[in-house]
Amino acid sequence: MSASFNRRDLLKFGSMAAIGMGLRLPSLGMGNEEGILRNYGAADGLINLSSNENPYGISPKAREALLAALGEAHRYQYNHTNLKDFKKQLADHYGVQEDQVLVTAGSGEALGLLPRHFHKGKLVTANPTFGILPATAKMLGQKVVEVPLTADQKHDLPAMLKEVDDDTSLVYICNPANPSSTIVSSSSLKNFCIEAAKKAYVAVDEAYIDFLDAPDNESMLQLIEKHPKVFVIGTFSKIHAMAGLRIGWVIGHASLIKPLADNYFIRTQMAMSALSMSAALASLKDPGWQKLSKEKNAAARDYTYNALKNMNINVVKSYTNFLFFPIPNYKGDFAADMLQKNIFLRSSNYIHGKWARASVGTMDEMKQFIETMKQVQV
Ligand SMILES: Cc1ncc(COP(=O)(O)O)c(C=O)c1O
Repeated sequence: MSASFNRRDLLKFGSMAAIGMGLRLPSLGMGNEEGILRNYGAADGLINLSSNENPYGISPKAREALLAALGEAHRYQYNHTNLKDFKKQLADHYGVQEDQVLVTAGSGEALGLLPRHFHKGKLVTANPTFGILPATAKMLGQKVVEVPLTADQKHDLPAMLKEVDDDTSLVYICNPANPSSTIVSSSSLKNFCIEAAKKAYVAVDEAYIDFLDAPDNESMLQLIEKHPKVFVIGTFSKIHAMAGLRIGWVIGHASLIKPLADNYFIRTQMAMSALSMSAALASLKDPGWQKLSKEKNAAARDYTYNALKNMNINVVKSYTNFLFFPIPNYKGDFAADMLQKNIFLRSSNYIHGKWARASVGTMDEMKQFIETMKQVQV
């Protein structure tokens, strides 16, 4: 199959998937990771900067654990001796109790299940934000209040708080934020969570927290004991580079975790692969590998940020493994046109105009991305 045929196919498939998600083309659904051709890697020279994956791969220790688990692949995970206390090991790592943890096949699964539980009353979130939870809530007929980001692409915490009332069942906030790549300070987020939790449950999605340095990397896990309505969602897909292995979690007060476990999350651990679970435990024990990918990501991100700035593109300062930049003057469908040039990224129209999001790939990939950006007028 030729490269150009492949690209045409990608576009066709992407369009169909987007329509399937009810998205209006040419938007590639930047805030929604579901309806896009994420399973295409770098085949035929395609540089895939679409899904905020970690290009450095899983830890060698996780690879070893995966291979070792293969020998027992004929057994259910609950019969793998190493996995009997999987949840306990996760709980120990995050400094919580076992009854405060739910595990899921990627955090996306949790984001799709949560609105089923929190369906009484409205959802308050940002616009734009990561799409699975709000999109599911809308599909279920829930009222979703989407508070625009500030002009500097940060969560508008005071405006969000104003929307939280006795009729609010859930607040969903990503810190760091997707797609905008920004953060709010730990202290302001902490105050926001405490205030909002007086009226509603608050879900903090910390998918990208491991790309942060102190003091910004303070997790809201610290709140769950004293503020039982605050809970945190996490994933092994980003710093652990395990997007294809599908491991995520929800950690909260036992009084929330129990009804979730008894209800919509009843079989989520059964949906997880023993191989993935084995790799996840090994990855937790390899902080050196995480540090390496964090450092490489920062170097490639800084290079790309500076190169875009030098091209007069007003790229947002990123605290993540992706970059968000305005393309106000671009005529046409930016993501579709970049795909023709072998760069797979996202672009969309939203309340602040036309924007694009590119994941941070390897340094070589980002150099090629910048060369391609020089050929287009944004
Ligand atoms: C903010 C955020 N939350 C959750 C996820 C879902 O990740 P996964 O389902 O791979 O755990 C993503 C994926 O990109 C994300 O950006």
